Amino acid sequence: MKYKGFFITIEGVEGAGKTTQIHRLAEALGDDVTVTREPGGTPVSEQIRDIFLTADTISAATELLLIAAARSQHVTELILPALNKGQTVICDRFSDATIAYQGYRKGIDLQIIEQINHIATGGLKPDITFLLDLPPEIGLQRKRDSDEPLTRLEHETLTLHKKVREGYLAVAKSEPQRVKLIDAQLDVDTVHNLLIAETEKRIQLSHKK
Ligand code: TMP
Repeated sequence: MKYKGFFITIEGVEGAGKTTQIHRLAEALGDDVTVTREPGGTPVSEQIRDIFLTADTISAATELLLIAAARSQHVTELILPALNKGQTVICDRFSDATIAYQGYRKGIDLQIIEQINHIATGGLKPDITFLLDLPPEIGLQRKRDSDEPLTRLEHETLTLHKKVREGYLAVAKSEPQRVKLIDAQLDVDTVHNLLIAETEKRIQLSHKK
């Protein structure tokens, strides 16, 4: 897919430190940066996020379809227009999260996920994805220590979170060129330096900016 901008996604298990790193990366990249998140990013997609995160009972297929609906609206209304204007878009989670969370965690067939992701994104792929990797027990402990209330998924068992990590690592292994694996146990400054160095290198290589 052709666009002038540069599309970065950040992935990781709960508590991997995505939010901090996204804000620091956006600040370091300066103007013309759009920061957004999934599920969410547009009014409709944020409403779907609320349903997704707060529903008491929700089937695996409903999870997948809600996520896809939110993504479709997000790509059409926000991400693609920003990329077409030449902006750098930093998105907190994207299609890889669906492989990890609905594929590995919920056991939905990965080929179905690929097809649904394709419908939702229209084939849009990130130029680079940073996978902030850490053992889920450390990430979940970080979440429990924070003031924020835990979400539906953060309440789930460690076994399920281990599957999410396994899914992410499988994606990183299958697409090493796009997905850059980062050790999220490194200190915040070191992780930031790795992210900004790699982003600047990739933006230059893409000849887009
Ligand atoms: P966040 O807390 O990182 O903003 O993400 C919200 C939750 O949504 C998180 O628990 C992961 C989940 N999620 C999925 O299950 N599948 C997806 O495709 C995405 C984007 C998020």
